Amino acid sequence: MRAVAVTPAKVILFGEHFVVGGNTAISMAINLPTTVAAELQAGKQIVVSSEDLELEAGFSEGGRIQVLQKGEIDPEKTLRPIFEIANLTLKKLNRTGRGLRLIVKSQVPIGMGLGSSAATAVGTVSAITTLLRQPFSREQVFEAAYALERMVHGHPSGIDQATVTYGGLISYSKGQVEARLQTSKPPSLIIGNTRVRRSTGEFVGKVSRLRETQPEEYAKPALEAQRIVQRAIEVLKNGGPEDLGSLMNANQQLLEMVGVSSPELERLITAARSAGAFGAKLTGGGGGGCMIAAVDDKNRAAVARAILEAGGDVVPSEFVSTGVETSLTEK
Ligand code: PMV
Repeated sequence: MRAVAVTPAKVILFGEHFVVGGNTAISMAINLPTTVAAELQAGKQIVVSSEDLELEAGFSEGGRIQVLQKGEIDPEKTLRPIFEIANLTLKKLNRTGRGLRLIVKSQVPIGMGLGSSAATAVGTVSAITTLLRQPFSREQVFEAAYALERMVHGHPSGIDQATVTYGGLISYSKGQVEARLQTSKPPSLIIGNTRVRRSTGEFVGKVSRLRETQPEEYAKPALEAQRIVQRAIEVLKNGGPEDLGSLMNANQQLLEMVGVSSPELERLITAARSAGAFGAKLTGGGGGGCMIAAVDDKNRAAVARAILEAGGDVVPSEFVSTGVETSLTEK
C-alpha cells in the first residue's frame, strides 16, 4: 500500500512576528503543492528521499543516519527533520520501529517564508497515519507538526502548520485557529522572491529579544499590528484591493520598526508599489525570503515585471481553499 498526502504552501498576509508574542495574524494557503508518499518497508529503518534535491538517507530508530544518495545540499540538515516528524508520528501511534519509506516532492522554495518545512511535516504526519490505517483528524495533524516545529525553532506560533493543514484563509493566535475567514473574492496577490535564504528562527529571536528587553519599544508596533489585523478581517470580507494594499503598507512599516525587513525585500516592495501595486509588504520571517503585493487584473502584469526587473523571482501561485488531502492506494 502507498499513502500520498498533498499539501498547499502559505503566505502570511498580516501580523507575522507579532503573532509569536500573542497577537492575531492572518494567513492564506496557496497552490504550490508538496507531496509526501509513504510506504511500508522491511526492517526498522526510516528511509527518506527528496526527489527534487536528489537526496536519500536511511535513519535507524535511534537516529543514526546512513546517506544513500548525496546531492548538492546537506542530507543531514534537509532529511533529518522529516525523519524526526516520522518518528514522532510512529511514537504517537505506538508503532516505533516500523520500517518506512518516505518520498518527498515539493514545488515550494526552501527557506523563503512560504511554509516549506510545515508542508513537509504536515504531509509526513498525514501520509504515515493514513498508511498505518490510524488516520489523524486535522487537529491531530496540526498538533503533531506544531510539536516538531517547537523542537526545531524554539518559539514558533504554529501559523504555518495551521495554514497548511486547514487551507483557505485563517486568522490565528496562541496556537489556535481563531476563525476560517470567508471571503467573496480571495485577495489577488503577486508573490516576489528575493532569493535570499534566511533562518526564520534568527529573526523570531530578534523580535523576541526586543519584546523581552525593551517591552515599551515592542508594545506600540504590536498594538498597531493588532489594529491592522482587525481591519484586514473586515476588508477581506467586504473591501477591495486598495484597502488591503494600504493595510499592507502600514504593516510593512511596523515590520521595519522591529528590524525584520531587509534591503532586498525593500527593493522589491518599492518596485511593486512604483509599478502600481495597491500596497506591498514582506511575508513570513523577513530578512530575505518573499514579499507580497496587492494587485488587480489591470496592474498585475506591470507589478510582476517590476519585481523581475528589480532582481526578484515571481512565484506563480494563488489562493487555494483546500488544506492537506490524503489518499491510500494499492501500489
Ligand atoms: O516560516 P516563516 O518564515 O513564514 O515565518 C513564520 C511566521 C513568523 O511569525 C515570523 C514566525 C511564527 O512562528 O509565527
